[in-house]
Amino acid sequence: MRIENFIRFDASSPRILGLVRNQNILVPRIQLCKTDEVPIGGALKIETAGLILALFRTGSEFYTTDDCCTHGPGSLSEGFLEGEVIECNFHQGKFNIRTGEVVLPPCTVPIRIYKTVVEDGTVYIEV
Ligand code: FES
Repeated sequence: MRIENFIRFDASSPRILGLVRNQNILVPRIQLCKTDEVPIGGALKIETAGLILALFRTGSEFYTTDDCCTHGPGSLSEGFLEGEVIECNFHQGKFNIRTGEVVLPPCTVPIRIYKTVVEDGTVYIEV
């Protein structure tokens, strides 16, 4: 599925919603969007809190990674998603969006992944 959705938040007002307890450590939680803003089998590019993210939805699961491909200028949110694998739109390298691991060269460096949490129809990451 080709991914064409995009959300940009005002960088001066990132949606950081304070701290949440995760394994007894307080970590910042950032609101990304409502679940229904992400098409099933698709993604959103989200800029917030100084991060440029790709938020993916596979069925009922949500995964967040850096948007920028580790191999070059490709935008992963503009790639092609098949299951848990995103194909970069630039040189067709592939990553697993759940683990960040490289699935197919020419990429060699894993992508950063973020713990993604859904509560009351809203998607957050914990950073
Ligand atoms: Fe993504 Fe080359 S820029 S595979």
